[in-house]
Amino acid sequence: MSSNQKQHDYWNGEIATNWVARLAHFERGFTGINEALMAFARLESGMAVLDAGCGAGTTTEEIATAVAPGRVVGLDISKPLIEAARARSSGATTFIEADASDYPFTPEFDLIFSRLGLMFFVDPVKSFANLRRALKPGGRLAFLCWCPQAEICYLWEPYQAARDLLPALDPTPDNEPGPFGLADRARTACLLQEAGWHDIRIARATPSSLLGATPKEAAEQVMNMGPLARLLRQADAALKAKVLERITPVLAQWATPAGVAPPAACWLVEAFA
Ligand SMILES: C[S@@+](CC[C@H](N)C(=O)[O-])C[C@H]1O[C@@H](n2cnc3c(N)ncnc32)[C@H](O)[C@@H]1O
Repeated sequence: MSSNQKQHDYWNGEIATNWVARLAHFERGFTGINEALMAFARLESGMAVLDAGCGAGTTTEEIATAVAPGRVVGLDISKPLIEAARARSSGATTFIEADASDYPFTPEFDLIFSRLGLMFFVDPVKSFANLRRALKPGGRLAFLCWCPQAEICYLWEPYQAARDLLPALDPTPDNEPGPFGLADRARTACLLQEAGWHDIRIARATPSSLLGATPKEAAEQVMNMGPLARLLRQADAALKAKVLERITPVLAQWATPAGVAPPAACWLVEAFA
């Protein structure tokens, strides 16, 4: 049994099918944060990289191209996402279905990379200590995670606007295992230090996130992300339609000629083994 059983069940459930089905939408939304993270990660030819919490493997493929003739391994707790990653693999990547918290790593990588894949640990100190075992001496960790959810305006404002229509459930709190599990910068630095990492650097970034061509398309995307995705999991079509109607004008405030592109708020985190 995984020490992260709840997250294991979540990422092996409906969310994974939905994630694969909406992969193109997610990738379009992640363009800005992806560029910020790739620059921060400083990938170099010949590196051996672990992409932790790699999901359907999009970043893993991008890393493979950047580090060729080096190598990259994607690891994820979700069977459907690892299957999707393997199915889409260019052949230059390897994928492992495992929990990063307790996988028996050996010191073979120069870099551990993660785009939004490290916020879900029940015991972050134990998990980050375990990840450290994957690095060669002097190896580096470079990852991106969300700032507190109230700072992710395009998730928080639509959620607030639709709150009275939704079940009386709180969204996953900040600093609990979930998308906002590493939202507190000072706490993240302490967790990493306690897990044995040093030279920790955490920088805030606010790249824009292209959510859709129109406010309605952006609203549909937001209903598949963050608090609304979690709260609408059991909702019927009528409730979803009401929420869509309610939040579409909220998304319209970020309309640009290129589409609906609000700013995201994330942390870029670097640490050494
Ligand atoms: C928000 S998704 C990000 C996926 C991918 N990195 C991307 O940017 O498209 C978070 C990923 O972390 C994975 N994950 C959560 N807990 C994990 C764990 N303990 N070990 C490995 N992967 C985990 C999930 O299965 C999911 O694929």
